[in-house]
Amino acid sequence: MKKVKIAIMGIGTVGGGTYEILTTNRELIKKTRGLDITVKKILDRAVENVTARGIDASLACTDLEAIVTDPEISIVVETMGGVEPARSFILRVLAAGKSVVTANKELISKCGYELEAAAKKTGAGLYYEASCVGGVPIIRTLTDSMQANNITEILGIINGTTNYILTKMSKEGLTYEAALKEAQQLGYAEFNPTADVEGYDAMYKLSILSSLAFHTCIPYTSIYREGITKITAEDIAVGKEMGYTLKLLAIGKRSGNEIEARVHPTFVPNSHPLASVNDAFNAVFLKGDFVDDIMLYGRGAGARPTGSAIVSDIVVCAEQASRHSYSDFDNNGRLEEGIVVKSNFSSRYYLSFKLMDKPGVLGKITGILGDNGVSINKAMQHGDDADGYAPVVFFTHLTTEDAVRKSLDIISRSDAVKSLDSLIRVL
Ligand code: HSE
Repeated sequence: MKKVKIAIMGIGTVGGGTYEILTTNRELIKKTRGLDITVKKILDRAVENVTARGIDASLACTDLEAIVTDPEISIVVETMGGVEPARSFILRVLAAGKSVVTANKELISKCGYELEAAAKKTGAGLYYEASCVGGVPIIRTLTDSMQANNITEILGIINGTTNYILTKMSKEGLTYEAALKEAQQLGYAEFNPTADVEGYDAMYKLSILSSLAFHTCIPYTSIYREGITKITAEDIAVGKEMGYTLKLLAIGKRSGNEIEARVHPTFVPNSHPLASVNDAFNAVFLKGDFVDDIMLYGRGAGARPTGSAIVSDIVVCAEQASRHSYSDFDNNGRLEEGIVVKSNFSSRYYLSFKLMDKPGVLGKITGILGDNGVSINKAMQHGDDADGYAPVVFFTHLTTEDAVRKSLDIISRSDAVKSLDSLIRVL
């Protein structure tokens, strides 16, 4: 039986879940993997944070050096979150030749290349299955199960908070504000929800997942990002009538050297499997050139699902011993030469306006769209006139982002338009 001693940095929700799994399923892992994994030290600001979880105070430490200089500890789990001091702590641990398992998507997305270089230098491992989609084994699927395929597409609902909010808006007709409040009360959304609702969390995850899927570095800065804060109950109702469910989708596509990487609200046809991923659940849909479509579904957050991914990484890391693998692409934090992340991608669109309700206005708007190559699939007045303006929505055929932007620029200057209320892409 191989004895593996580990340390945990940060005993919050996820660190606590990791400790719980390691103690509850210690015998299972001994039996199935031949590894006896024990937690030797827990680093936290306060010893009380450790004892409050029923963990013996003798495991607590407040000084990183106690972990770094302990020759018995071979793996360190980082569950602190945020960039600093997590980044500095991990660099120190890796420099000491100890492997790191982290759940930190922001850190991996922003500094993964730097951490990986540090790990390679000492031959340490760097594992981050828990950084994306919690308990869903998407990273190992990409790195260890899809070798036979060129992955051409990755579509994901990879943020549970926004999926919960959109599900509530869709199923109960709640406003965005009311649904957010409910998500906060239930602990799905943070007091400051920006990272989730503005799409940053999904953007970090897409940067990690698309880099692995397409074997090239996709910096988070190259990803188009839009959150859900401007979505109205009206948009969702119109989509519903037309057979769509609104989701915050992370979309990655590769065709030759052209990449699409974007996070934005998207109308998903109800016939698509992602349309029925509800509440705080996550799912990732992949297309490989030989396997075709596969979809992974599960809980993307929480102590136990995320802890499950961390413990899986600990096991793999312990089994690799000193034969850790690293990115299969030049991971330097920059877009590879010759690779282009397209801003002018193709999509279908839903556009919602308040237009002056008088003869010829609709013709004028459709004329501008047509002149710019935007073909309309459906147009309808939705709701009642107010102050002489009518709410009108359009669904377009497949067109390009540039064509739509150019049309809207011209339309917005017309006296006949009171407001462009929504622009939502349609899958
Ligand atoms: N806040 C994230 C979510 C979970 O709502 O999915 C951690 O990434």
